[in-house]
Amino acid sequence: MAGNGLHRCFPDLNNMFDVNRIEFFEQVETPFYFYDMDLLRSTVEKVAALSAEYGITVHYAVKANVERRILEYISSMGFGADCVSGNEVMHACSCRFPAEKIVFAGVGKSDREIAEAIKAGVGMFNCESLQEIFVVNAMAGRFGKRVNVSIRVNPGVDAHTHRYITTGTYENKFGISDHEFSAAVEMIKRCGNIDFAGLHFHIGSQITDVEEVFALECARANEIVDWFEGQGLKVDNVNLGGGLGVDYEDPDGNPVADFATWFRVVSGGIHRREGRKIHIEPGRSMVAQCASLISRVLFVKTGETKNFLILDAGMNDLIRPALYGAFHKIENISAILRPNLPQSQVYDVVGPVCESSDVWGAGRLLPLSVRGDLMAIRSTGAYGQVMSSRYNLRDFAPAVYSDDMHGAHLRTEYFDNLNN
Ligand code: LLP
Repeated sequence: MAGNGLHRCFPDLNNMFDVNRIEFFEQVETPFYFYDMDLLRSTVEKVAALSAEYGITVHYAVKANVERRILEYISSMGFGADCVSGNEVMHACSCRFPAEKIVFAGVGKSDREIAEAIKAGVGMFNCESLQEIFVVNAMAGRFGKRVNVSIRVNPGVDAHTHRYITTGTYENKFGISDHEFSAAVEMIKRCGNIDFAGLHFHIGSQITDVEEVFALECARANEIVDWFEGQGLKVDNVNLGGGLGVDYEDPDGNPVADFATWFRVVSGGIHRREGRKIHIEPGRSMVAQCASLISRVLFVKTGETKNFLILDAGMNDLIRPALYGAFHKIENISAILRPNLPQSQVYDVVGPVCESSDVWGAGRLLPLSVRGDLMAIRSTGAYGQVMSSRYNLRDFAPAVYSDDMHGAHLRTEYFDNLNN
């Protein structure tokens, strides 16, 4: 183990990578996603404690990471699930989330997905359009079931985040907005197979102005809740969605997101009353920091104006930098173990995929790096593995769990057959 002595020899050793882990990685085929299960557990335990303290119900947003091991652990801690497709609903059920703790959102649910979710007995549909309410009601009638329906509202609140992950402004496709509220109320009152359960909001992701943005969301939610109650619909469930940001710049400084502020703001911000439940749906903040995409330097290339480090992980493994220009910290973890820390160099760190956007980071200052060095792309537990593709017919990068380090477990059940 990396005890104090080793920490003195290798001042760059950090929380995620000790000597044991790096030596283990040397024997594993790259690229792969490394999951630090201890960090996952401390993050999830923190959320469980706050959920109990504030009486706020948590549904993990399955879209962030669908690895069975991770979902089974999260469900075992008593959380519910937020799903946005029929397959996510089925997968969550198979990972032991009780159906009644599953909320089903999504702006475009197909008839088949609606039917399957009704049959599975999900706890609540978050409906995003008038037509969807109509179809859910009709389908519930066909199956002779009653279904709980919440309305996903577009609150017109700007989350101050990347425009691709902003969801609560009037320019976004999500939710039902003010001018249709009256029509929604009428429709719900006319639908005989659904029970109105409450309101659902989600204004965006990677929100870092936690205090300010979530207070705004709560203030707007209160207005809308009061309006619906004024129309005679009891709002027993107020779901504020997810969105808590994580620290991509300094994952070791802030391995656990600022859940304490989020819970405090939400708990104090929403008008509470007897029988009203508050829900949140964290995705990224639960799982982002516990994983790193581990890759190897294939080649070091000196261009006309730049030095390139070409890694064996590409944008098909993690699309966030190419898609959103997202920043992920990159570390040369082999260099940590070199006894005399070598000089530094500025590199453009790139992947092997035939696209110019396949860049991990331009102009990154790193230790002098050589072919074969192990590189860690940090904070990749959320929207990483789950958004990967087989572009260029590359294999899916498998998951490796810290709990299995005594014997490499190199293929995930979920993606296993997809590589064939
Ligand atoms: N609830 C709903 C209805 C959502 O649409 C989302 C995320 C969440 C909860 C979870 O939000 P979180 O706590 O993870 O911020 N692929 C993008 C993020 C897309 C988020 C989509 N919705 C990325 O890589 O940044």
